Amino acid sequence: MRRKIAAGNWKMNGLTASLTELDTLAARFPKPGCDVLICPPATLIAPAKARAGSIAIGGQDCHTGVSGAHTGDVSAEMLADIGASHVIVGHSERRDDHGESSELIEAKAEAAWRAGLTAVICIGESLAQREAGETLDVLTEQLAQSTPDGATAANTVIAYEPVWAIGTGKVPTLAQIGEVHDALRGQLEARFGAEGTGIRLLYGGSVKPSNAAEIFAVSNVDGALVGGASLKADDFGGIISALEAA
Ligand code: 13P
Repeated sequence: MRRKIAAGNWKMNGLTASLTELDTLAARFPKPGCDVLICPPATLIAPAKARAGSIAIGGQDCHTGVSGAHTGDVSAEMLADIGASHVIVGHSERRDDHGESSELIEAKAEAAWRAGLTAVICIGESLAQREAGETLDVLTEQLAQSTPDGATAANTVIAYEPVWAIGTGKVPTLAQIGEVHDALRGQLEARFGAEGTGIRLLYGGSVKPSNAAEIFAVSNVDGALVGGASLKADDFGGIISALEAA
């Protein structure tokens, strides 16, 4: 059995005052029935960790190196040092805004492992790719190239986030989500064997309390990576509760 994960990606949102949302969540879920992860902006990781209770805290990106002359970058070791246990790599906003390739993301995942972090590797097709019927080909290639050899159920989580569903209120049909997740599971098992069976597969893109339960019922969906709806404790709490019940 794969333990499910409700993961929140705050993106570039949140000042210290926003940590009261985390306080509310930590009080509501002292012993959650699934893994709960919040990835706040790097500026909030240390204070978030101090008040997160059983909620795990992660980064949203890391550099491939340990340290050095890379102005503005943060290493996986730095994230681990302030209490992060996970780091998102390869989010489509990094791929698009910063031109990150799957090869770079693979190196970032290896950096995460080097620092003892779990890598949450994101993949997703664009609307043009979906409409051209290229979805599974694109995802197969992204997953193959972004995931290093040595991925295990413990060190890697995969998040499928269709680019066109992020922040748009548009969600693929349940059949479309199931088709992708089943294909990704098959690919992980073919490459990683039993570890591939254990790697958790999250869906992300416009997940809300109102659609969470039906998405969590889809085969091979082991949880969600949530953007906008993770910013408010009430909304994210509803998603966590739906996952606990799934
Ligand atoms: P939304 O939940 O706001 O669509 O964002 C999804 C996402 O990009 C999480 O990483």
